[in-house]
Amino acid sequence: MSLAASLPNAARSLSEPSDMFSPDHYTAVRRPLAEAETLPAWCYTSERFYQREVERIFMKVWNFLGRADRIPNPGDYFTLEFAGIPLIIARGDDGNVRAFANSCRHRGSLVALGEGSCRAFKCPYHSWAFGLDGRLLSAPSMEQTLNFDKADYGLTEIRLESWGGFIFVNFDRDAPDLLTFLGDLPQRLASYNYEEMVCVRRVEYELTCNWKIYVENAMEAYHVPYVHKSTLQRQKGPTAQPIETEGEWVGLFKEHTGSRALLAGETGFPPIPSLSGPAAVGTHYPLIYPSTMFGATIDCMWWLELHPIAADRTKLIVGSAFPKEVVARPDFEEVVTRYYRRWDISIPEDNEISDLQQRGLSSPFYREGRFSHLEPLVHAIDNWVLDRVLDPA
Ligand code: FES
Ligand SMILES: [Fe+2]
Repeated sequence: MSLAASLPNAARSLSEPSDMFSPDHYTAVRRPLAEAETLPAWCYTSERFYQREVERIFMKVWNFLGRADRIPNPGDYFTLEFAGIPLIIARGDDGNVRAFANSCRHRGSLVALGEGSCRAFKCPYHSWAFGLDGRLLSAPSMEQTLNFDKADYGLTEIRLESWGGFIFVNFDRDAPDLLTFLGDLPQRLASYNYEEMVCVRRVEYELTCNWKIYVENAMEAYHVPYVHKSTLQRQKGPTAQPIETEGEWVGLFKEHTGSRALLAGETGFPPIPSLSGPAAVGTHYPLIYPSTMFGATIDCMWWLELHPIAADRTKLIVGSAFPKEVVARPDFEEVVTRYYRRWDISIPEDNEISDLQQRGLSSPFYREGRFSHLEPLVHAIDNWVLDRVLDPA
């Protein structure tokens, strides 16, 4: 007898139905918040569900990859693997940042590793060399190969666009452009002047949870008094509220005084001088779908960038950026440690609770739960995912 068959009905949610993309399984998630149930466990544990998300979500949207100032000079590059796809991000001699599939056009080896600066990418296998613009520059011992034109064997370019100094890639040639995808986000965040910021730190974490668990956590304040009871909870102010948005994003806004990037009682840098409207009196916490969260506060910004790896594995990158003039201050290195302290405490608190959630819901005895009125965006995110991955009714 299979495990699922031996369990009572209430304990079957982990067993994957063969028709897991049928809308019939999700009618309870589709109800209004106060009547809805959470996603079935297989949405967080099943490799099949995860692969469908890669195909229908991550291969279609603008995926956030941090700031262009990570590679400030021509020849600077970094590599990464995003949802299983090896990529090179490089700044060309013309100053433009481009993305390429990191797969040699000869027999497919990775061409570049790690990060650094170079004049050309030389494949470690048979030494084909590619320019910073992806063109195949040289290929030894290919002169007897018939009809071989180097112009046909450049690295495959992936769409890359930027906004506010942030770079995004899209694997879908037919997707609408980045600004269409972002809707009113650039305008709503315009007064933070992100163009004029510099990234001062990037920290990477390996999470043992599904990417949605981390996104859901970031977009609800319900857990703050409990998970962050001796840290963020001591920052004063009303609970963060969802805001109206247009485009592929949602967001919370919290009104308060002081910076949200500091622990209670700490003082830091002055507010960004250009702030106007709500930005001047609080903090925005946007989620750019599917998996990029910003803390947009009065003196700096931080981002949470997720790279999905498997159903239960995700890479988290936490970046921090401050206005250029602030970074140039003689006391910057000393004062910024107060901000680092806040992130180095609060982020591991969220990482740890996300791990506990993944472990708990992976039990065959976990069954779908219900939402609080404090979790409207968790419900919205789950439905956004279902809108994209389910089969038609
Ligand atoms: S695989 Fe790259 S040169 Fe042969
Ligand atoms: Fe949190």
